[in-house]
Amino acid sequence: MKRIVPYLLLLPLFFCISCMQGVEPINKVIDRGLKRSAEQALLMAKSLEHKEGLFPKSIKNDSLETSTNHWWCCGFFPGQLWYLYEDMQTPELEHYAELFTARVEPAKHFTNTHDLGFMLYNSFGNGYRLTGNSQYKDILLTGAQSLATRYNEHIGLMRSWDFNKKVWQFPVIIDNMMNLEFLLWAAREGGDVRLEEMAVSHADKTLQYHFRDDFSTYHVVSYDTITALPEKKVTHQGYNDASAWARGEAWALYGYVMMYRETGRQAYLDLAHQIASFVMNHPNLPEDKIPYWDFDAPNIPDEPRDASAAAIIASALIELSQLDAASAKSKDYLQLAEDMLRSLSSPNYLAEVGSNCHFTLMHSTGSFPGNSEVDVPLTYADYYYVEALLRMKKVLEKK
Ligand code: GLY
Repeated sequence: MKRIVPYLLLLPLFFCISCMQGVEPINKVIDRGLKRSAEQALLMAKSLEHKEGLFPKSIKNDSLETSTNHWWCCGFFPGQLWYLYEDMQTPELEHYAELFTARVEPAKHFTNTHDLGFMLYNSFGNGYRLTGNSQYKDILLTGAQSLATRYNEHIGLMRSWDFNKKVWQFPVIIDNMMNLEFLLWAAREGGDVRLEEMAVSHADKTLQYHFRDDFSTYHVVSYDTITALPEKKVTHQGYNDASAWARGEAWALYGYVMMYRETGRQAYLDLAHQIASFVMNHPNLPEDKIPYWDFDAPNIPDEPRDASAAAIIASALIELSQLDAASAKSKDYLQLAEDMLRSLSSPNYLAEVGSNCHFTLMHSTGSFPGNSEVDVPLTYADYYYVEALLRMKKVLEKK
């Protein structure tokens, strides 16, 4: 017995060492995630190469669901290919990035959607950033003018949706923040300089009216077209009007981090910190840090997750941690982003090669109330996952 006791005392130490050995270094996680995403994206690209005009959308009835360039998500797959090309520089990735980007072009004339940033800036915008192709720039500037037609001078906002006209006079959704980067880019790259004023006005008014006292966001704020003030604050994709729809919080956080990066305005940075705190400290954020589709969903923990919200939040937190590196919270932001990326890169969320209809991630939720795209892969989850991995990789390279 006497001989055994000292060994028993050492057991916790052995246990600790083996735990440490079991933790994959974050740079390995990143490389694995990028490699997997490239393998899946190339299989996806090859499967759709000869299906003219089509893009991946999701999985429906166990099969790949596709869309045309009229769907708001058409820019994410080409954008994902550009990000992967940025990292790996292979001619094959460049070829497919170009091929799927070209399919988005007709969207430059669309004036019936606020999603042109997602559609054009993520595809042609990334393509232009990486190749300097002047045709891409022309397409982007045309698209930005189309988007600007949705701006209402009197209200000071861009109209998000055209449906439900009898219910909402002038609906603005928090998601709309994500399209402002496109306008700011165009204003600085030879487009109409007023595009910048529009973007700033939209962000200012959203800051004023879209947030609750706890800095969670409403999904939809509809404005009275005469008073230019909110007439309704409701949800469309969240659990209820008072709930915190997970992707709404993600768009809000990402949107204000981006607006701070682009304008340097303190109010945007302050709001970004407040939204980040709401998410980070939320009691319903699960242990693996992948949000349920709504932070207030009624049957937590028996609710679907939204991997897309985690990918968007992770990407935004990494940027916020770098933009305000002096903040006491910067380390916590980076840690939460790392935790999210580790979970997304685990077998629980990261698909095996050849599975998941060639999407990278599993378990996102498009619209739970609409019973549409629940617990499925989504192109924007994959896009922001790759973006976040690349952002984290750059942070590590700086260290
Ligand atoms: N923009 C729509 C969504 O996030 O589902």
